[in-house]
Amino acid sequence: MRVVLVGPPGAGKGTQAQFIASHFAVPKISTGDIFRANVSAGTELGRAAQTYMDAGDLVPDEVTIAMVRQRLAEPDVTEGFLLDGFPRNVAQAEVLGQLLAELGTPLDAVLELVVDHDEVVRRLSGRRTCRVCQHVWHLDYDPPAHAGVCDQCGGELYLRPDDAEATVRHRLEVYDAQTAPIVEYYAAHGILIGIDATGPVEEVTDRAIGGLRRFAQPSTGRQPS
Ligand code: AP5
Repeated sequence: MRVVLVGPPGAGKGTQAQFIASHFAVPKISTGDIFRANVSAGTELGRAAQTYMDAGDLVPDEVTIAMVRQRLAEPDVTEGFLLDGFPRNVAQAEVLGQLLAELGTPLDAVLELVVDHDEVVRRLSGRRTCRVCQHVWHLDYDPPAHAGVCDQCGGELYLRPDDAEATVRHRLEVYDAQTAPIVEYYAAHGILIGIDATGPVEEVTDRAIGGLRRFAQPSTGRQPS
């Protein structure tokens, strides 16, 4: 199963991606996570991406596309993948289409998580991420047992620099101007599934898996770590 997850910042893409990828036994590929890992490691890629990320802008296409092209050449994606955060504009969607056409493995579905902007701001202002294992918490919706400490690994929790409210507002503008058009693009290709991404996480997961089920047979077993 080859799926793209799309939705505004804070829609719950990362939260849902772990459960969906686990259910269908495919690797989750998050461009945001790859960029953040490179920023933490101080790589050239991280240095190229950081200014754009901190400002809430898209990293230039040539950087992002080269990174995704390399990731999609790895052997674990032959049976499918879940892309979280890519493509993010029509140019990236067209390149992805060409790349998958060359491989003879077209996309099966694009899952859109629909939430309004006020909910996005609530979710992102309360989000806390573990510096060590990257687990994502929420101060109200999914709080850790001890403030500032990750229940999973004991790591320190932090507020992402791009989750400051003014930057979130800018990211939403970038989403509306540059990413929302890919929703229309994939609707025109007949592979778009839109789901309501509000309500408890488990209910959103059920809607997502229900929408995607007709594209693939689920595996039994693996659970997200
Ligand atoms: P990226 O990391 O992809 O950020 P994003 O798309 O803005 O998405 P987020 O990670 O902020 O949110 P999410 O939808 O994953 O929500 P989450 O599950 O955490 O990208 C970051 C940056 O990298 C970009 O701005 C750009 O600079 C660059 N970049 C990445 N890809 C790129 C590309 N293709 N091209 C160019 N640049 C690129 O949930 C949010 C919070 O809500 C959490 O606290 C969670 O616990 C909570 N929550 C989740 N679901 C629920 C629920 N149902 N109810 C209540 N709370 C919930």
